[in-house]
Order: sequence, then structure tokens, then C-alpha cells
Amino acid sequence: MSTHSETTKITTEQLRKMKRAGEKISALTAYDHIMASLLDESSIDIILVGDSASTVFAGNETTLPMTMEEMLYHVRVVTKSVKRALVVADMPFMSYHVSIEEAIRNAGRFMKESHAEAVKLEGGIEFLPTIKRLVEIGIPVMGHLGLTPQSIHKFGTYRTRGTSKAEADKILKDAIALEKAGIFALVLEKIPAALSMKISKAVSIPTIGIGAGGHCDGQILVTHDMLGLYEKFHPRFVRRYAELAKAMRKAFRNYHADVKSGSFPGKNESY
Ligand code: KIV
Repeated sequence: MSTHSETTKITTEQLRKMKRAGEKISALTAYDHIMASLLDESSIDIILVGDSASTVFAGNETTLPMTMEEMLYHVRVVTKSVKRALVVADMPFMSYHVSIEEAIRNAGRFMKESHAEAVKLEGGIEFLPTIKRLVEIGIPVMGHLGLTPQSIHKFGTYRTRGTSKAEADKILKDAIALEKAGIFALVLEKIPAALSMKISKAVSIPTIGIGAGGHCDGQILVTHDMLGLYEKFHPRFVRRYAELAKAMRKAFRNYHADVKSGSFPGKNESY
């Protein structure tokens, strides 16, 4: 499907227009040059340099170990590779929790040193003063509610959030408060579709769902998950568009066999 936005540089304002026009927003993650270039060539609207790099790139169990220096490197590589998509830098665990000053310093580093166009941070009303201040000084902020992986040890499980009335009410209240504080878009992770519909109607900023049903204004997946590159878990909200881990294993095995048998390199591959 061709859309007006395929030729337009994506900005936070462009995303708002897309919501108003009813045009769905596509978002995926990238941490390296090849992935970022391929996503950008494919007209993906938002490229998130997610702290999911911790699990799918670095092989950690959770997103918590990711550091500012590691994220700065990934974001710098991605922004260099992207012309059209809006590039959002995920603020790692403990980079915005200690004080507003530290959050500003770290978000500022993403913009100044790595050329991010926006930052994302997890959490609700507890982060309102931080978000307000970041937005006031010109740093666009994307919110993230529902399942917030940086709080995994508080909950102890990656279960669906917002299934009880109290939890659903809190997520809705947080979403409205975050919009008031100035966020330009909101990630909703692993919440019931009925709740994400309610939130998407209640706020004028775009909602970007991951495991949050089809009523959000856009969708995001971790690219390594949708490509079948990360095989450790396969939640039902991940649609697999390829089976790259299987294809890569096959290629590596074939190469190994060819080297062992001496059939690689052949005459045409030699000088
Ligand atoms: O880190 C990440 O990739 C994310 C997405 C799952 C939204 O936060």
C-alpha cells in the first residue's frame, strides 16, 4: 500500500498527522547499520533503537544490563544509516531514574552525540516531572506503558498487564497524564485490545502497540523476533515474517560441509 508518507521525512508532527488521517504507523527495532538501512529502504516509519538489544543482540536475560555507552554506540550507528524514518533512542535502565538532571544529561547525549531525534522511557505518572522537563527543553519523548520490561523484577513475570480493573484504570490514567506532560507517542505493550482501544480514543497522540491488538494507531515488533532470528521465546503477538535463524544455520552448515569437502572455493572463486 502506497502512502503519502513514503516520500516524506518522518517527524513527530508527521506521526500526529498520520493518526489524524487514520494512517497506521509502522515501527521496528534496529541496533546496527544493515538492519537500519533495510528498514529505512522498506519505508518503516519509526526505528526504535530499543534496549531489547540487551537480550537479542548482547544475549542477556533481561534489558537491565544495557548501559548508556552501549546504547549511544547503537544509536549512532543507526542514525548514520537512516534518512527517512524517525529514530528513537531507548533510555536504558537507571539512565533517567536518579534525578531529572541525570535524565536531561543522558537524553541530551543521545541527541547531541548520537543524533537521535527522540527518546523513549518506560513508566507512568512517577516520571511526569522528568518528561515535562525534557519536552520543555526540546527533547521529544515517547512513553511506554503496560508491560515495562525494565520493571521485570518488580513484577517477576512478563504476563499481560491491565487485565484487572485497577491495573487497567492506572494504565489509562497514566496515558492521559503522559499526553498532558507532552509525549509525542505512546508504546502500549502486552495489554488487552479493549484497553488499548480505549486509550487510543482517549489521547490525541499516536499509540504504538506491541501485543496490544489492532486498535492502536501503529504497531511495533522487535525485528529479531519477527524475522525468526531470536528463537528463545515466541509470544503469540509476534507474527513471524521469516525464519532467518533456520536459514542462517542451513547456510553455515553448507559452508562448513563445503570447506571440509574441499568443494569451496571452486575455480570461479579463486584467482
Ligand atoms: O526495547 C524495545 O525494543 C522496546 C520495544 C519492545 C517497544 O521497548
